[in-house]
Amino acid sequence: MYSLKSFLASLLRQPFALEQAFLQRLAARYSMRRLYPDVPPYAAGEDARMPSGRLNRGEMIRLAFEFMAGNLMAGDYFEFGCWGGRTFRMAFEHHAIHFKENMHFWLFDSFQGLPALNSLDRHPKWKEGDYRTSRAEFDRIVSQTGISPERYTIIEGYYQETLTAARARDLAARTRAGVIYIDCDLYESTRTVLEFIVPILQQGTVLCFDDYYCFNGRPDRGEQLAIKEFLNCHPDVEFVEYAHFGWHGKSFLVHLRNEHG
Ligand SMILES: C[S@@+](CC[C@H](N)C(=O)[O-])C[C@H]1O[C@@H](n2cnc3c(N)ncnc32)[C@H](O)[C@@H]1O
Repeated sequence: MYSLKSFLASLLRQPFALEQAFLQRLAARYSMRRLYPDVPPYAAGEDARMPSGRLNRGEMIRLAFEFMAGNLMAGDYFEFGCWGGRTFRMAFEHHAIHFKENMHFWLFDSFQGLPALNSLDRHPKWKEGDYRTSRAEFDRIVSQTGISPERYTIIEGYYQETLTAARARDLAARTRAGVIYIDCDLYESTRTVLEFIVPILQQGTVLCFDDYYCFNGRPDRGEQLAIKEFLNCHPDVEFVEYAHFGWHGKSFLVHLRNEHG
């Protein structure tokens, strides 16, 4: 009797708590989006399932914009690895809280999927051509979200061809990076991206590595290896540890050692 009473009392104290918990469990069980108002409907899978206390991708991107705003930073959003526009749409949604019209989105992808994998990048999950979304399909998905084409620039092609020193210089003459989201899975692609972005870095650029813990978290593979090699070649650049997100990602803040003031 006592337990029935306390059960009823707790129901009264927390209206709909049981229903909420049940729906949360259902959502997690079937990988539906978390029942939080800020998770967009296209978030699915691990972005919906992530245990509380751990940032998911959308939350990581939102934190990056909060970091920029809190430090009065200006700069654009750069994304390497765009696939079906999931992270780009999240970024677009979250930037508006602080940056409205004055942030541009620079998107880099082959739109052919992953390139041929070298021996170091061989992975049971990935093969050449995976994550292929055609440019037309990408534009269609993005326009459905209501993002106007003036707000973003797509640089289409394999990084080995598109990420040239001349392009990096040209970008650096126009802007700096506020947030860089690197989601191209492979060591080789990440290594190319890291060399490319040097001229657009600023103090505090938020670098998000989506695949930091892929390859079983091995420091001698994937993004971790690319970061280690990059930092060895660039003693003037330091990555300050920032936040983990999902089971897979980690972010850093850029410190440019030779830039004072
Ligand atoms: C996992 S998907 C990106 C997912 C995306 N951020 C999202 O959330 O929708 C990886 C992407 O990296 C791109 N990619 C990987 N290596 C590349 C390279 N060397 N050149 C161009 N694109 C590359 C692939 O085309 C693919 O679209």
